[in-house]
Amino acid sequence: TGKFFVGGNWKCNGTKDSISKLVADLNDAKLENDVDVVVAPPFVYIDQVKQSLADRIEISAQNSWIGKGGAFTGEISAEQLTDIGCKWVILGHSERRHVIGEDDQFIGKKATYALSQNLKVIACIGEKLEERESGKTFDVCFQQMKAFADSISNWADVVIAYEPVWAIGTGKVATPQQAQEVHVAVRDWLKKNVSPEVASSTRIIYGGSVNGSNCAELAKQEDIDGFLVGGASLKGPEFATIVNSVT
Ligand code: 13P
Repeated sequence: TGKFFVGGNWKCNGTKDSISKLVADLNDAKLENDVDVVVAPPFVYIDQVKQSLADRIEISAQNSWIGKGGAFTGEISAEQLTDIGCKWVILGHSERRHVIGEDDQFIGKKATYALSQNLKVIACIGEKLEERESGKTFDVCFQQMKAFADSISNWADVVIAYEPVWAIGTGKVATPQQAQEVHVAVRDWLKKNVSPEVASSTRIIYGGSVNGSNCAELAKQEDIDGFLVGGASLKGPEFATIVNSVT
């Protein structure tokens, strides 16, 4: 399923000073060659990171506007992101879905436009705790997948991140079996609804309380093709451990 992929989602964290230290730690870290490594700083620090981080690590934004720039106060367009050297954008993150209120259709528009501007997309899906407890995990993930699939024609530029909401920032990581089960289901959904080729070539990564201690067991699972890391990505050495958990 392509190269192992590890993304660091820094969310709304950091200062010029703390980010300069994190970049120095990442530049010093010994990272396995055969892994795609991407970090997503807050917008205002992307240029600082681009200027100082080794080219070995690519840069992602954490959001982008649904279309071409213009009179959209407070938004950042995909073309501005490519202009400053960003290669990726995270879309559909649970914090944007459930804290900010983005819906599937809005997220789908962002995906279509970002891909049209040659940004690659980390497309996030995942169920809330009450949805898991009422047996709706697959329904929720498949509905979110459908919205992405309706908006995406070029799957070569897409990585899917399965991030169960109950595991994000809680310290309650999914068990390797829980994650593997959903990854298999999502791959099967892609096979039936997009194509067998896309199902076998698209990387499905896991996110939610991944750290330096639990990454190795998760990485052993057949259908876990990498990670999207929040909190632990703010610590250079620990993030390097996660990158190097590739099996
Ligand atoms: P944590 O690793 O802090 O749980 O966050 C996961 C996440 O949301 C990555 O996008």
